[in-house]
Amino acid sequence: MKILIADKFEDFGLTELKTRGFDVIFEPDLKDDSLLAALKEKDPDVLIVRSTKVPDAMIAAAGKLGLIIRAGAGYDTIDITAARAKGISVANCPGMNSTAVAELAMALMLSVDRRIPDQVADLRQGVWNKKGYAKFARGLKGRTLGLIGVGQIGKLVARRALAFEMKVLYQDIVPCEELDNDDRARRVEREELLRSADVVSLHVPAMEATKNLINAEVLGMMQKHALLINTTRGSVVDQKALATALKNGDIAFAALDVYADEPAATDKTIAADILNLPNFYGTHHVGASTEQAQLAVAEEVIRILDEYAKTKEVLNCVN
Ligand code: MLT
Repeated sequence: MKILIADKFEDFGLTELKTRGFDVIFEPDLKDDSLLAALKEKDPDVLIVRSTKVPDAMIAAAGKLGLIIRAGAGYDTIDITAARAKGISVANCPGMNSTAVAELAMALMLSVDRRIPDQVADLRQGVWNKKGYAKFARGLKGRTLGLIGVGQIGKLVARRALAFEMKVLYQDIVPCEELDNDDRARRVEREELLRSADVVSLHVPAMEATKNLINAEVLGMMQKHALLINTTRGSVVDQKALATALKNGDIAFAALDVYADEPAATDKTIAADILNLPNFYGTHHVGASTEQAQLAVAEEVIRILDEYAKTKEVLNCVN
């Protein structure tokens, strides 16, 4: 079975796949036209991608391709409908990097409360400002975290926030038994969450229904001292409206790991108004990027491939 890997992939995973006798072509820099050409020329049975986009045109160009594996949880970068129409299955690796994303959400929360990135930047310039930085931190204990979406990641953020003695409000279309059994957490309507939370953290998937979920109207409901954290997908937040809210002081701070019009993993630059605002911190869509998460993802990819090679059954099929 010929496997084209058009993205970064753990060395461990590459070795395992070769040991199992798969014909592995590892070309992590393929994207757009170069991926289209590779799909035509190499005609793989399976394509593995992480951030690399697989739109309709690529699917149309594929020959005997039967399976696309998204080495991660979200699959908004793959046209799953076009794939299904062509008889190509798409599988993902849900839950494998959830802890990593939850850890980043907590890291952003703490970074903002203590202004850690600004403190580091000042120290690098030789500036000592104990007095100035002492006045920012409010502390997390007793503060209210509002979680929009409590799937695997949201739940893990809740557990960590509770360990920090925060109160948790959550909003989801389905109740979360674990949180409903905890008197430090409560399921509420979205508006109550937005109006009461000190920190709002987003954990819903990218889909039509969540596009620009956080817009000017929603931002207007949040508390003026509130922090917004987004580690899910850029499309969930109207980034222009967020930049305006930050400039006007409608909310105090935003910390994002994901962006509208996000560059590809192989790109070297990013431009957006929000990046230069003093009340914004950002990371480089690295929520899932811990060694342990990437090893778990590679193991799941191998499990999917083993089953597919043996039985043609597609584990974690999303289309
Ligand atoms: C995911 O969807 O699991 C992550 O966003 C993966 C990634 O960082 O590429």
